[in-house]
This record gives sequence, C-alpha cells and structure tokens, in this order.
Amino acid sequence: MSNFLSDLEPLKQAALADLKAAADMPALEQAKGAWIGPNGKFTALMKQLGTLPKEEKPLAGKAINTVKVELEAVLTARREELELQASLPMEPTDFTLPGRRRALGKLHPLTQVTDDIVRAFRKIGFVVADGPEIEDDFHCFDALNTPADHPARDTQDTFYVGAPGSPSPVQLRITNQTSNAPIRPELSGGNYGLLRTHTSSVQIRVMQSQSPPIRIIAPGRVYRRDNADATHNPAFQQIEGLYVDKNVTVGDLKGTVEFVFKEVLGDDVKLRFRPHYFSYTEPSLEIDFTNSLVKKLGKDWLEIAGCGMVHPKVFENVGYDPEVWTGWAFGFGIERIAMLRYGINDIRLFYENDVRFLKQF
Ligand code: DAH
Repeated sequence: MSNFLSDLEPLKQAALADLKAAADMPALEQAKGAWIGPNGKFTALMKQLGTLPKEEKPLAGKAINTVKVELEAVLTARREELELQASLPMEPTDFTLPGRRRALGKLHPLTQVTDDIVRAFRKIGFVVADGPEIEDDFHCFDALNTPADHPARDTQDTFYVGAPGSPSPVQLRITNQTSNAPIRPELSGGNYGLLRTHTSSVQIRVMQSQSPPIRIIAPGRVYRRDNADATHNPAFQQIEGLYVDKNVTVGDLKGTVEFVFKEVLGDDVKLRFRPHYFSYTEPSLEIDFTNSLVKKLGKDWLEIAGCGMVHPKVFENVGYDPEVWTGWAFGFGIERIAMLRYGINDIRLFYENDVRFLKQF
C-alpha cells in the first residue's frame, strides 16, 4: 500500500507536466494516450488496485479517483486553450490599419444625364412635374388630340392592362407597402388601361390641376411595344417640357431648347428645326442637332426631339381658353443623349444592370 500511494504522486506530477506541455492538439492526444488511455501508465496503476489487500482498497481507490478527476480537468482546460490559440490569427493584429471601406455606389448614367437636363431647365425657372406610368387613354391620347382612330396611335402601340383585344381599365390604388395606407390619392380611383407611351400625358395632368402660367418639365419612364435592339427598348426615358403663358412664341421655344442643349452637351451644339406633325401641336417641329460628337459618328445631324406650339384643341380639352393662352411643348428621349455623351452604342446596356458597365460613368 505505502508503495502504491507513494507511486501515485510522482506519476501525477509527470502526467500533469506532460499534459500542460502539449504544444498542439496531436501532442495533447498523445499525452492523453500515454497516461489515461487504455494502455496509459495511470490506467495501469488503476489496474493494480485489484491486487491490493482488501482493507487498503477504499483509501487507495479514493486517492486514485481524485487524481483521475484532476488529470481530466487539466486535459479539458489545455484542450480549450489550444483550440482558442488555433482560432486566433497567426499574425498579430495591427489595430492602426484603416478599416475596410464599403464600395460607394454611383448614380446610373441615365440618372446623371436626367439630372443635368433638369438642372439646366431649373436655371430658367422650370419645375419638375410627374405623373403615373400606368395611364388612361384620355391623358395619353384623347386629350392630346389623338382620338382612338388616329393613325398616330399605331406608331405608339403599348401594353394594355386587361384581356387581350379588349382594353379593360383597372382601378389604380397606390399604397404604402408596409402600412397599406393610400399614397398619391390624386392618382387613385381613375380608370387606368395602358402603360404611357410618352411623358406628354403629364402636360394634360398639370394643366388640369393648375392654371397658367405654367413652366414644367416631366422626366420619366415610358413604354412602347417595340422589340429590343441596339436603339430600341420596350421601356425608355423621356423628358417633356411645357410652357404656357400669354404671347408665347416659337422664338421662346427655340431659345429655350438651344440653351438647354448647350448646357447639357456643350457650346458647339447646333440645332435645326424641321416641319413635322404631332396631333397636339400646331405648328409641329422636329429638332435635329449636331456637334463634334455627332460628327465623330460620321453623321451631319441627329434627330433628337419633337416640339411645337400647343394645339388649341389641347387647351380646350383641359379647360384653358385658346384665345387667351399660348404655349409650346417638346419631348425627347434621354437614352440617345446619354449614348452620345458617353459613346455607348447599344441602348440595352442601360438596362442590364451589369456593374462592370455602370461603374464606368
Ligand atoms: N410625345 C412625342 C414622342 O413621344 C414627343 C413630343 C413631340 C412631345 C412634340 C411634345 C411635343 O410635347 O410637342 O415622340
């Protein structure tokens, strides 16, 4: 007995030293095996317990158990230490390094161009107006003097909401996504049947809701039933302008358009006005423009916008007296200007949302 107990203490010290010295997990596993594994030295000592005389067994058993519990506790503690060590970075952390920055996004090139155009118009007193993209026949066509049987409707075929062949209007209710509370109540309740083909519908909405004088521009998305190719997309952006006051002339129109295009595309811009036809203006004009960018494309002129003096019928349709009020209106696509400015040759790139393309502008 005295022999057994006196063996226990040095064995324990050696085992503790081994476990504590293990420098990594494999070394720890090895130390564990050498002492408390099935063939370990400590296990061998426990096996000797059976050979002791009966009266010595309780004391020896108690002593050996205490040591066993102690060894297992040290083993667990060392394992946790080593696991923590393994999870820490190999290199010390340099807390003086700058933090990781989140990449900043950018405005879409079409937004940038739109903003520039809006800024130019604001300089001369125009304000931004807006209207729904889901429109009705009246605001998109009828009020603009384009009745149902008018051939101009064919050139602006669009997407109708409702059963194919029988445009059935829908009731529009614009609500807050989370609270379901109605927003833009002024647009709710009407009969909406199509996706607007041009921003000209906003002219009608503005004139219906306020009296002259009016100086607005309406940028926004429009839709046409076009197949997508390098110069067409079924959804695109336009800007509409409307100026209504007494004694407004074609001279005001030309001067304004020239000012804005020079602001947006540079001082070397030249404009050309050609007679044209729109049902909502009389006379109607098409605007061509040129500058060094157009010349670079090997062209003399690029068709850029439609415009004219507001048709008396349109004034009547919104309740303005055409004998008192005069005005001009224009509309043009934004993509074409952006394509020219940035040298982009395919309109579809604007809508693919490929960051590699977008981050270049
Ligand atoms: N709405 C025409 C289009 O989409 C552009 C346009 C032409 C707008 C003449 C006007 C205008 O306001 O007076 O092609």
